Amino acid sequence: MRTHYCGQVTAADIGNTVTLCGWAHRRRDHGGVIFVDLRDREGQVQVVVDPDTPDAFRHAEEVRSEFVLKIEGKVRPRPAGTENPNQTTGMIEVLAQRIEILNPSLTPPFQLDDDTINENIRLQYRYLDLRREPMQKNMRLRYRVSKLMRDYLDANGFIEVETPMLTRSTPEGARDYLVPSRVHDGMFYALPQSPQLFKQLLMVAGYDRYFQITKCFRDEDLRADRQPEFTQVDLETSFLGEEEIMTLVEGMIRDMMQKAQGIELPNPFPRMPYAEAMSKYGSDKPDMRVTLEIVDVGDAMKDVAFKVFSGPANDPKGRVAALRIPGGASLSRGEIDGYTEFVKIYGAKGLAYIKVNDVSQLNEAGLQSPIVKNLSEASLKAVIERTGAANGDLIFFGADRAKVVTDALGALRLKVGHEKGHVDGRAWAPLWVVDFPMFEFNEDENRWDALHHPFTAPKDGHEDFLATDPGRCLSKAYDMVLNGWEVGGGSVRIHREAVQEKVFAALNIGEDERREKFGFLLDALQYGAPPHGGLAFGLDRLVTLMTGAESIRDVIAFPKTQRASCLMTNAPNVVDEKQLRELHIRLRNVNPADKAA
Ligand code: AMO
Ligand code: AMP
Repeated sequence: MRTHYCGQVTAADIGNTVTLCGWAHRRRDHGGVIFVDLRDREGQVQVVVDPDTPDAFRHAEEVRSEFVLKIEGKVRPRPAGTENPNQTTGMIEVLAQRIEILNPSLTPPFQLDDDTINENIRLQYRYLDLRREPMQKNMRLRYRVSKLMRDYLDANGFIEVETPMLTRSTPEGARDYLVPSRVHDGMFYALPQSPQLFKQLLMVAGYDRYFQITKCFRDEDLRADRQPEFTQVDLETSFLGEEEIMTLVEGMIRDMMQKAQGIELPNPFPRMPYAEAMSKYGSDKPDMRVTLEIVDVGDAMKDVAFKVFSGPANDPKGRVAALRIPGGASLSRGEIDGYTEFVKIYGAKGLAYIKVNDVSQLNEAGLQSPIVKNLSEASLKAVIERTGAANGDLIFFGADRAKVVTDALGALRLKVGHEKGHVDGRAWAPLWVVDFPMFEFNEDENRWDALHHPFTAPKDGHEDFLATDPGRCLSKAYDMVLNGWEVGGGSVRIHREAVQEKVFAALNIGEDERREKFGFLLDALQYGAPPHGGLAFGLDRLVTLMTGAESIRDVIAFPKTQRASCLMTNAPNVVDEKQLRELHIRLRNVNPADKAA
């Protein structure tokens, strides 16, 4: 139907006749002459319609936003002074000879080049939203990123194998999406939270290098970086150790970002033990662009009069830590109050601070703060030394249960760091977080939980801790972090059944539950399972970072809202009684408010 894409007509075409198809982005009537900006996926071109071509002119008068047009015309230079060198087609225009309206359009519910459109409207009319240039760019980048990763894996001997969507519950720790079985009364499939178990079975089956770009489903609380269905670039290898796996996948990310956007990432990526990430940065996914660091001061606070500090300092489960803000003495009362409110989200009860006016006077004369009078000179000396504070700085403190302090100061570090410009100017800060603990103590349920998943292998020499001291047992797990986002994670797996049994024992997963949930994996481990390990990247998150979008919804063609609904199709939806009966399901009282929302 066409000779060119609208966005690809250039000065080289001047004098030629072109045929273009696309949407009327805008129509302007300039008293006698009509301008139509015609748009397709490659961009826009300015079409001029002159009354000298009465047929074309008559059609152009009918054109409204988003009408679908076919235009034949002659390419000519734009009149001097009206060129737009920033646009590929900015030096030329097309003088229309024929215009055909292929399809009219209703008036769109929003202007396509408005970037302040309410997201709910965008999601409801997603097919219009997807026409917008930023979304077209995002979708293309997403395609390119997955293509580049696929190419890299292919070149490295990986083959893609599909694994089932209708399966059993998998162990990633979120709630499952369930699918009722019609054939098996009262039974359910679960949609996979990841292909974890299947990819391990493919290693037992001798496939050696597997990958899959696939959907995963998790029914969890949604945030800007979480969707109920999201895409993993999932891979697994046999006979490779942690080092080799990390080198291989790091190479993939470096290669992909270089080819997709010319981004040069360091080689190798820096690494950091989990314990250091938590203590210095208050997060298992530290944003290394932020230059602020958390330091422990608990040992210096054991004997101070200030109970808020001495209490947690003397409690083995407590933590007292400080965060220095260079130049922070200029923070206003209002700003400090704002930060104090902010840390409450993380359970902090307050946010003590000291403004450092004169480090040579470790008392109320040199240090401006409501708490200084309750701290000893020795404790203040320790604080100043450890934080490296200088005149003009401010020091924030957290004192509470260790988790509260770590979370609160970790979040505060990011907030103050980004708001006040304590960043090192790097565009990209990749990091491997390694040496994760095998287990995390679940205070509410009084038991150990797997920090990754229960198939993660313990670090060499740590196997004995499984029975004696689970809290000390480190694992062969690794997470890839990019600019403070966890973009991927994986581990070397347990390949011997005896070790797997010990891990289940530490997790207090009994014999029956093991058989019932993972019997097929335990069986497979007894038929010559090779040493194996792998990792999965969150494709949506990677692409979001590369586009600079704020939410992963902007890189997913048809995403769901925070309430896990699709505003375009209205899923989820009620189904009719007959369908329910076939599935052997009777609904309990459904709350009408839930249904409406
Ligand atoms: P994990 O659970 O860490 O590991 O998931 C891997 C990566 O997937 C992304 N991700 C998500 N992205 C968007 N929305 C979500 N709800 C969501 N949840 C996770 C993250 C994360 O790093 N089977 C293991 C991998 C392995 O051990 O090989 C797994 O699924 O970027
Ligand atoms: P966690 O280590 O489980 O506290 O989670 C750290 C990060 O991993 C979160 O901020 C998310 O980016 C991601 N995440 C959270 N929950 C899950 C989950 N259930 N499965 C996989 N990734 C998760």
